[in-house]
Amino acid sequence: MAEPFSIPGTTAVVTGAAGGIGLALARRLLREGAARVVITDLDPGRVAAAAEELGERARGMAFDVSDEAAVADAVARIEQDHGPVDLWCSNAGVATGDGLGDDAAWDLSWRVHVMAHVYAARALFPRMAERGSGHFLVTASAAGLLTQLDSAPYSATKHGAVALSEWLAIRHADEGISVSCLCPQGVSTDMTAGDAGTSATRLGGEYIDPQDVAESVVAALHAGRFLVLPHPEAAGFEQRRAADRDRWIEGMRRAWAKIRAGSTARGD
Ligand SMILES: NC(=O)c1ccc[n+]([C@@H]2O[C@H](COP(=O)([O-])OP(=O)(O)OC[C@H]3O[C@@H](n4cnc5c(N)ncnc54)[C@H](O)[C@@H]3O)[C@@H](O)[C@H]2O)c1
Repeated sequence: MAEPFSIPGTTAVVTGAAGGIGLALARRLLREGAARVVITDLDPGRVAAAAEELGERARGMAFDVSDEAAVADAVARIEQDHGPVDLWCSNAGVATGDGLGDDAAWDLSWRVHVMAHVYAARALFPRMAERGSGHFLVTASAAGLLTQLDSAPYSATKHGAVALSEWLAIRHADEGISVSCLCPQGVSTDMTAGDAGTSATRLGGEYIDPQDVAESVVAALHAGRFLVLPHPEAAGFEQRRAADRDRWIEGMRRAWAKIRAGSTARGD
């Protein structure tokens, strides 16, 4: 276990926070006593609206997490304006559609789900190491522990996010930097609003609310836990996958066949 992370009085940054899980997390961090939470996302109008909604301890900043220069500039500006960043929640994510995906889907997923975390760590970790403290939370997904049957780019790049988080947690602990990795299954947000009833994620279990995800994050930060599993059943699925990979793949094939049979019967 890592050291517990204490939220009151901290400065936190949440990316992809104009809505969904990021906004719920920002709200929960403020309720927990964070001194300042910087809401970041792509669209300046959405960012400003979210920051205003959260009140005077919230600030907004629009930038693209997949643009390394923009991330480095944001880190420098936030630390200049608000002091050291204690907690960075690298949460932005994209859904690029069903199937194996074209090069554009792979490129975008790779940049947002993997390189964005690398860029943030490059800019932030030397600063945190110098101070001997800081926490980095990566929003991956249960897709990164198991698989996500709908989208290959999503599943593979979320596996990358989990692997990167583990690497960072191992290599930077001695600098006083702790890392955790958030791996929800389905959550009711804009990203999943258009999911058909036949979506593998929807059929894989109940969608929970973003507030429940934020609650799990705060509990895991308090406990100093690496893996944040808002759907506790994901731990059992992961154990079964590790215990017998062939059996697990066979089970997933059967699940996929059922989904396809359901779609065909409905004429989707
Ligand atoms: N909703 C789910 O079922 C679910 C499950 C597991 C993991 N996740 C992950 O949770 C995170 C949050 O997703 P959400 O469900 O709240 O969806 P969401 O669409 O509400 O939020 C994602 C946010 O990321 C922002 N974003 C996308 N690309 C960006 C970029 N290049 N730079 C800056 N911001 C960018 C979007 O504008 C959006 O506001 C994502 O990483 C997603 O993959 C979601």
